[in-house]
Formats: sequence, C-alpha cells, structure tokens
Amino acid sequence: DGLGVVAVGFSGGQPKPGVEAGPTALIDAGLLTQLENDLALNVTFDGTVASYADVYAAHPDDPDVRGMKRPKTVSAVTRQISEQVYAHARAGRFALTLGGDHSIAIGTISGSAKAVRERLGKEIAVVWVDAHADINTPETSGSGNIHGMPVAFLTGLARETREDVFGWIEDSHRIGVSKIVYIGLRDLDVGEKRILRENKVKCFTMHDIDRHGIGAIMDMTLEHIGPDTPIHLSFDVDALDPMWAPSTGTPVRGGLTLREGDFIAECVAETGALVAMDLVEVNPSLDEVGAGDTIRAGCSLVRCALGDTLL
Ligand code: ARG
Ligand code: MN
Ligand code: MN
Ligand code: MN
Repeated sequence: DGLGVVAVGFSGGQPKPGVEAGPTALIDAGLLTQLENDLALNVTFDGTVASYADVYAAHPDDPDVRGMKRPKTVSAVTRQISEQVYAHARAGRFALTLGGDHSIAIGTISGSAKAVRERLGKEIAVVWVDAHADINTPETSGSGNIHGMPVAFLTGLARETREDVFGWIEDSHRIGVSKIVYIGLRDLDVGEKRILRENKVKCFTMHDIDRHGIGAIMDMTLEHIGPDTPIHLSFDVDALDPMWAPSTGTPVRGGLTLREGDFIAECVAETGALVAMDLVEVNPSLDEVGAGDTIRAGCSLVRCALGDTLL
C-alpha cells in the first residue's frame, strides 16, 4: 500500500507553454512533504519530473492525424504514463499523478482501469471534475487539442488502429460510459453535448450544483457509482472558478468555489474506495495575479482526496 507519485511535465495536449511546470510548482510548494508528514503517507516517488525530451526528439514533425495535434507525441507519453500508473496500482499503491495537461488522463485512467481489473476483478468508476467534458472525438473537436479528447479515447467512443496513435489502448484499459460522473461542467462544445446526451452520461453541470447544492450532488454522484467500486478522481483545476484558480490554460468563469472543490475531494476520500487521482492543468506561467493561489488550491485538493479532514 502507500502512495505512488507520477510527475508529468507535459504540455503537448494543448498549445500553451507552462503547464509542464505544474508538477514542480506543486512539489516545491511542499505537497509531498505535507502528505508524508501531516497525513503520514508512505510515499513512493523516484524524484523525477518527466519532461519527455526523448519523445519530442523522436517525433520532430509529428503531423496531424484526423485533425489531432502532436498525435504521436501524446500517444507515446500517455502510453508511458499508463504503464507507470499501472505499476503503482497493480502493487496496491494509490496512484497520484501531477500534470501536465489533461491529455495525460489517457495514460492515468487506462493504467488504473487495467490494474484494478486484474487485482480486484472490477471496473473502476471515474469522477471527472472539470469545466469541460474533454470528450471530443478527433472529428468533433474544433481545436484538435488532445486534452479535449481523453474521455473519448478512454471509453472507446474514439478509436485508432495505428499503434503509435493510441492504437495501444486495449479493452482492458477502457471504461464504460456509464461509469463516469462529471462535476462542474460549464463549457461544452456542440458535438460534446450531443455525445453526452446520446450516451446518457451522468453529468452534474454548474446549473445542477446551483440548484441542489454540492452536498446533494455528491450524494447523487456516489449513489450513481454504487458501493464497493474503486474510484479514480480526475481533477482539472479549471473546474474551480478563476477567482480561486486563475493560472490555467482554459479558464471559464462561473465555476466551483475553493470549498466546493475540496468538498468533492473530501467526499470521494470518505468512501474509502478512491484508488487514484490526477491533478491537472496547473500552469504557473499564466500568473497575471500570481500563480500562488492556484498552486495552493491544487495542494489542498490533493490533501483532501488523500484523507485530510478539517477536524
Ligand atoms: N472543448 C475544448 C477543446 O476540445 C476545450 C478543452 C479544454 N480541456 C482541458 N483539459 N482544459 O479544445
Ligand atoms: Mn478543463
Ligand atoms: Mn468553449
Ligand atoms: Mn480537462
């Protein structure tokens, strides 16, 4: 048991530089020491923040495939992450991945899905906390940025046969659309709305949170997932309102408060079924007002998910 940390300094799933510095900013702010000292967690971390220079060098001109930007680079990086997360989860460690842009969830979720299948014979549920659904297929995406597509590849709504363009994703890596719960949505592309409706995906938008309150939303989230189901929490810091987390590539106003974000993480932790977490899209260079707030918010979300309580 214990905690396995994967630090992913990768920005290739979207165009804005800086998000590759997210993991170092979180670690320099003391995140891992807090987990070790305050929460008494046994942390396994090799101390490296991967920057994937070798992967970029191997694909100097990585041309678009089906409109996807840097497809081979993102595919190779996520494949590597998938193996790292799989190794932690297979050994029974909680897998914490610090990003990096949200394309890396192709690696993290595929890794934990496969490990939990093998270890426990169960399919994981995913709680995806985000302003965005990141469920574009290459064909519905307007931007071609792969950080807007991870859920489509993880569910099999998007598929590719070329091994070096996500063809490495097997059934054992995938999750069913009914196992995903979204929280915090407020900026969906037209094609994404259609995908979400057609597949009856469980979505709690900001409208639903306004109507019911975050307490009821978390009750409904855990009700949908059901008991004894291992949970992977994929938290995009842009789910928080830019008032609390401005340093991120695609901020959208009208988001979660700092406490609502922490509350989501606390509730998922309380189930005792959380097996993995991603914290992504912290971009310290987008810091007109100082990246400190965003970094502190990110550290707090991780501590809450790992069992920190207010009392
Ligand atoms: N829907 C937009 C796109 O597909 C924005 C995605 C933003 N994703 C993120 N992980 N911040 O390009
Ligand atoms: Mn987002
Ligand atoms: Mn938009
Ligand atoms: Mn996202």
